[in-house]
Amino acid sequence: MTEANINYKHRDGITLPNSIFITSHSPSQTHQLGLIIGTLSQPGDIVLLSGPLGVGKTCLAQGIAKALGIREDTASPSYVLMREFSGRIPLYHMDLYRLEFNEISELGLDDYLYGHGLCVIEWAEKGQFIMPEQHLQLTLAYDTDTIRLITITHCGKRYTDMVEHISQINNLPDKKDLA
Ligand SMILES: Nc1ncnc2c1ncn2[C@@H]1O[C@H](COP(=O)(O)OP(=O)(O)OP(=O)(O)O)[C@@H](O)[C@H]1O
Ligand SMILES: [Mg+2]
Repeated sequence: MTEANINYKHRDGITLPNSIFITSHSPSQTHQLGLIIGTLSQPGDIVLLSGPLGVGKTCLAQGIAKALGIREDTASPSYVLMREFSGRIPLYHMDLYRLEFNEISELGLDDYLYGHGLCVIEWAEKGQFIMPEQHLQLTLAYDTDTIRLITITHCGKRYTDMVEHISQINNLPDKKDLA
């Protein structure tokens, strides 16, 4: 399998402040990235997932859930706003896709956003105005059918350390290595 490339430079040569770039060649590699983030997560962490329909946000969230020891199916919560799972730390998996701008601010999500679990939020850009200033942002983009370009941006010291750790990984390991 082609190795996942983890780099401070976008493959087009650009750099972005506080960001690293990952090329995922398969759902499995995206899942592995989720496993790594889940392993590094601490209570109160915020992971924002952005990118178009079907790009792989839930795939990544499923890796995070697995790393927290959650065995339940964490398939996309698109038809419910939020699902709560009990793992090494609580997981609050949210999806803002179906919500309007004004609905999001009325939801009262602060108890979760500033709580003791890990918040993983799909379509986070729709609720950007209520998100904590410190967070980890992952933006997924289509390249080909199976290749996704993932930009990880850290906002806040806590996440700087996390991204530093991710950047030291040369390749996303095969599933069997993390099983
Ligand atoms: N490199 C890749 N990384 C992640 N998913 C991939 C990749 N290549 C192909 N896929 C496929 O893309 C789809 C991603 O679906 P997923 O539900 O994770 O997307 P999503 O971003 O959560 O969509 P939605 O916006 O509808 O919630 C899956 O069918 C998966 O198999
Ligand atoms: Mg999804």
